[in-house]
Amino acid sequence: MNDPFAALYHAVYEEGQLFGVDQPLASDPLRDVPHGVRPNSIAIGGGAFGDEGKGRVVDELCGILAHRTGQLVVYRWNGGANAGHTVIVDDQRLALHQMPSGALHAAAVGVLGKGMVIHPEDLVEESLQVARAINRPLDAETPAALVDLNAVLALDTHRAFEAALKAWERGGSGATGRGISPAYADVLLRHPMRVRDLVADDWRERLSQHYELYAALINGLGRHIAEISVPSLRGIREVGDQSTFLERLRLAREVLHWSVVDAYPYLAERWAQPDQFGFIFEGAQAVGLDPRFGVYPDVTASDPTFGGILASTEGLIAPEQIAVRANTLKATYSSSVGTRRLPTHMPDLLAMRIREDAHEYGATTRRPRDILYFDLPCLGYFARVSGATHLVLTHLDIAYPDQPIQICTHYTDSNGNPAPYRPDQAYLNGVTAQFRDLPSWDGAALRGAKRLADLPHSALQYIAFITQALGAAPLMATTGAQRDALISWLP
Ligand code: IMP
Repeated sequence: MNDPFAALYHAVYEEGQLFGVDQPLASDPLRDVPHGVRPNSIAIGGGAFGDEGKGRVVDELCGILAHRTGQLVVYRWNGGANAGHTVIVDDQRLALHQMPSGALHAAAVGVLGKGMVIHPEDLVEESLQVARAINRPLDAETPAALVDLNAVLALDTHRAFEAALKAWERGGSGATGRGISPAYADVLLRHPMRVRDLVADDWRERLSQHYELYAALINGLGRHIAEISVPSLRGIREVGDQSTFLERLRLAREVLHWSVVDAYPYLAERWAQPDQFGFIFEGAQAVGLDPRFGVYPDVTASDPTFGGILASTEGLIAPEQIAVRANTLKATYSSSVGTRRLPTHMPDLLAMRIREDAHEYGATTRRPRDILYFDLPCLGYFARVSGATHLVLTHLDIAYPDQPIQICTHYTDSNGNPAPYRPDQAYLNGVTAQFRDLPSWDGAALRGAKRLADLPHSALQYIAFITQALGAAPLMATTGAQRDALISWLP
């Protein structure tokens, strides 16, 4: 028996140990912090392959922190228009892509960090939609969110290059087409366009040179940049010639320049006042999409781990200084969009049941998401490399009394020997998942639960098992689609 969790299974399911998950946390991790850790700071990231449902939890945490500190900074450190989450504002559904969802909270200022890649026109369109939804003007006094002048631009040129490259070779076949990886590649090639280039007086010269470079690169792939169709929030359109490209940017620039700040001093001043400013770091994508730790090559290009915060804040905020770093996971399964294939893909029948019950369809594309069994080798690896201290478990109501929860405890190689998760598709194609059944509960009966005491014993056992196995304490769980269907372990 190679199951590395056999002793844990025995402790939880045979000896009845719950490791305290049936009680609130013994002390408040946001307030009772060790020396060197900043109170009232929390980072929330994706712990699997994205779409874990972080938005609701961020919303709840904004409420808790705003109550304590009065003001909030909601900081996003990675990714760009590839993210998509729906928030409900006054009964209106609003799709956010570049803005952190917490930025909509009345006490919050959203900050789009240096680690992000910014599409200016889409950001302006999104800001207009947000301003309309929350009934606030969009002007120099009330920008929808602040943008670090050092953030990198991800423009139509990058979207066109990604499209041309995709047709040339198979790499990036699962990508969202938002030019994310070419924009990050510009940094390593040492020719990025940053937000500060767009707001500079000589922006036309800088952006013209950039267009010419990408026209040449795309020419080399046998295509004409002007004729390539790219997605945008206003629909699919051709990139157009240089003057069209510049004119679109000119319009966006007029609105965007209200929002541009040098984020380093802005953050430094507020980070030093833990009683006045709550900090929420809201990650996009997830560790399973990280270019170093995700299932390569179907990965994104940004750093979705908590480590990315140090780079994005230019060394100001190390993840170890943040009081709570929580990876978000779907409690009983994972979902994945893209072309990656894990050894834990679920057979169609059960996957279809979960997909329907949990509405596992892409927020913007409506693409059905792949459904995976809860995969301890990969989720444990993700929790470790991202440095998670806590877990947020979503969709605790997706469990069936007639169906045990099958979880993957370990992988084996072609000789039947234990094999770890490793971040490489070719390697993962050669391993086999080994499973264990855990007792389930009636998810429909649990739906909407708000108190720990409302959870059935088998759900508590399950939470004890997976949080111990992943090495992080439970922080919150969601139990249904309504906003208040949420359980917190915060005292
Ligand atoms: P890119 O970020 O557009 O380069 O896409 C790379 C991979 O990450 C693709 O498989 C995408 O489907 C996936 N991806 C990017 N952003 C998200 C997200 O917010 N949720 C889920 N998958 C994502």
